[in-house]
Amino acid sequence: MKLFIDTANIEEIKDVERWGVLSGVTTNPSLIAKEKDVVFEEVIREITSIVDGAISAEVTGETAEEMIAEGRALHSIHENVVIKVPMTKEGLIAIRELEGEGIATNCTLIFSVNQAILAIQSGASYVSPFIGRLDDIGSDGIELVRELASIIEHYGYDTKIIAASIRHPLHVQQAALAGAHIATVPYKVFQQMLAHPLTDRGIEQFNKDFEGTKRING
Ligand code: G3P
Repeated sequence: MKLFIDTANIEEIKDVERWGVLSGVTTNPSLIAKEKDVVFEEVIREITSIVDGAISAEVTGETAEEMIAEGRALHSIHENVVIKVPMTKEGLIAIRELEGEGIATNCTLIFSVNQAILAIQSGASYVSPFIGRLDDIGSDGIELVRELASIIEHYGYDTKIIAASIRHPLHVQQAALAGAHIATVPYKVFQQMLAHPLTDRGIEQFNKDFEGTKRING
């Protein structure tokens, strides 16, 4: 399973990029709005200069025509820009058109198997089931990922699952076990994935034991 970061914050992206574990970035209108005084298209352009991978930028238009126009404009920023399109009837029409033009799309706000089946049939390169938001309403977000992975595997579809709305490290490990191709992970969760108290204690002990050991260069 590959890892994307789910943020529009440039410093967070730069930090995790240095770890060498990032394959892409996802943003959404809420994440862009959290970054004060920025221009959407400029943020996306800057992200493409930091991460060499799929960068999802979401459209906000309501009609297929609006989404297609926005999608073309966003994709013109950089070939790695993937157009995030909401799971609506108009969104499906936009996905079909954009994919036909060679522009990759990510169908977002997926909460059911049937929505994903529609997105796959419309030609979406990625589908984004929202795990945390399903858990929030008492449904099982990971189970949706498992079902989608089994359908995609069974029929040999090319569409990739991006496990989204990840809230904690357990979601990442469960998404991997459920067969997600990608998990898009918030910065805070990346940091939580690194940490283990036994690692900290182990390093401390090794350094203490090693004190006073002779080295070639003094
Ligand atoms: O990028 C979409 C998704 O990851 C949003 O997550 O935490 O707002 O449900 P959340």
